[in-house]
Amino acid sequence: MPHPDISLPRLIAHRGLSAHAPENTLSAVRAAHAAGVAWVELDVQLLGDGTPVIWHDATLRRCSDRRGRLSDLDLAAARRLDAGSWFGDAFRGERMATLEEMLALLEALDMGVNLELKVNRGRDPRALVDAALPPVMEALPTSRRLLSSFNATALDHARAQAGNESLSLGVLFEGIGRDWRRQCEAVEAYSVHADWKRLKAPRAREITEAGYRLLCYTANDPAAFAPRWAWGVDAVISDDPSRFVP
Ligand code: G3P
Ligand code: MG
Repeated sequence: MPHPDISLPRLIAHRGLSAHAPENTLSAVRAAHAAGVAWVELDVQLLGDGTPVIWHDATLRRCSDRRGRLSDLDLAAARRLDAGSWFGDAFRGERMATLEEMLALLEALDMGVNLELKVNRGRDPRALVDAALPPVMEALPTSRRLLSSFNATALDHARAQAGNESLSLGVLFEGIGRDWRRQCEAVEAYSVHADWKRLKAPRAREITEAGYRLLCYTANDPAAFAPRWAWGVDAVISDDPSRFVP
């Protein structure tokens, strides 16, 4: 599939500007925008009632004032939790963002998104794609969206559901094994998203020479990361991209 010309920047804010605001919230995206970052990486998954929301964990405890599982919440219950005060008092009352709200904000701010289809254990990758893909394709132009996942079924299903419409997909890897190319070809991937600490130069070169964009997550130490730019890395996903600005 020919890929659209994506305006992929060198620096992407991981879960929004998560070094300075509660991750995956509207505040974290506004903070990224205020810091001059054009793209954010965000995680999407489904509540128990099928509403797509921006959230990373399977559980609530780390990033809210509640305990329990995300999949046990409906939207009304999700709205009641505080997704900001765990990070700091300034964010008390921050609400969990729905995908719909987040897309409206990204549109308003003219920002791009690497939306990670987050398939936590026991969740249905196809249901996630069915709920999340149409609104993303509707809200954002092809140049400002990139969907990624560790989950091959989610990527396969997204490719199938996009049909003839242009969709750029990224394959997320922890370690990148020898069969990386097969995984990318299977979904006509646009990009490879690598754990920067596990990426090695020969593999990076193979990937970029094969024509894939190469993104690295989650790098917060520019000096340690530096040699990798020469390997052909296109973009870094960081909790605090400003650290990478000379
Ligand atoms: O998409 C890059 C990165 O976000 C993948 O790991 O656990 O932070 O979602 P995680
Ligand atoms: Mg992620």
